[in-house]
Amino acid sequence: MKIAKTISIVRRLIQQARSRGKSVGLVPTMGALHQGHIRLIKKASKNSDFVVVSIFVNPAQFGPKEDFKKYPRPLKDDLKLCRDAGADVVFAPSVREIYPRENLTWVDVEKLSQPLCGRFRPGHFRGVATVCAKLFNIVQPDVAFFGQKDAQQAVLIKRMVADLNMPIKIIVCPTVRRPDGLALSSRNQYLTPQEKKDAVCLYKSLQKCRQMVALGINDSRKIIAQMRKILSAASAKIEYVEIVDAEMLLPLKRIDRPALVALAVRIGNTRLIDNVLIDIPK
Ligand code: PAJ
Repeated sequence: MKIAKTISIVRRLIQQARSRGKSVGLVPTMGALHQGHIRLIKKASKNSDFVVVSIFVNPAQFGPKEDFKKYPRPLKDDLKLCRDAGADVVFAPSVREIYPRENLTWVDVEKLSQPLCGRFRPGHFRGVATVCAKLFNIVQPDVAFFGQKDAQQAVLIKRMVADLNMPIKIIVCPTVRRPDGLALSSRNQYLTPQEKKDAVCLYKSLQKCRQMVALGINDSRKIIAQMRKILSAASAKIEYVEIVDAEMLLPLKRIDRPALVALAVRIGNTRLIDNVLIDIPK
């Protein structure tokens, strides 16, 4: 496995692979890798001949009061995990390499960047879409892999690729969870042992939603009320609990088509998100 810190080096390595007829898969990450990321890398190695993992904590997607500075950066551990999972190249550029000058060109995926997390993290998805567009231009992968854990991000990136005619297939992989249901996240490291236990309420509330739908209840207001109860009982501070359509992320009064049930809460000082897709035929 090679490590590339610059755009010119990663491009050269990819060019060499391409000239041998290899297909290229990209897994964009911010590092602090866990089994959720590893699953994406393994999926990428199955689906493409040459796997590039990017590790870049992207300042453009953090708000001024967010955790950009304290975001974990265990590069050595990450490199080992990437090697073991079958990556061919890790692209780990500096901020200067990606943003060498004031950035004037931004990708804003209108409408999709506004609801859900967009309401609480203004500018976040503009930063995500822009850095993904940059990574796509640098690596020019055939396929890029994203996790369902960040559902809004996945929807938005798919739309960006479609709207801008980027010749890239986007594959979205299921959320990887701990046995107790807590979705793996680099930010789980911020949680105390007690907070980790409390954080299971995210999964429990999503399970409650699934159960209600299975019982034939499809009134979003009723479902959300039950979900909020579970979250509040675990002293989670709720940012939002919403049921939206899975394509445009607009609120659904009833779950009568494919729906995304998404939530964001704070457990202590840590912001956590989770979601499930309810797959009801249109
Ligand atoms: P990061 O949070 O590091 O996540 C990288 C990828 O791993 C994302 O596609 C995310 O959805 C996926 N992922 C995280 N936790 C997961 C889990 N428990 N199960 C499955 N997949 C999981 O998302 C980002 O970085 C950034 O916004 C990025 C796309 C790299 C742009 O900067």
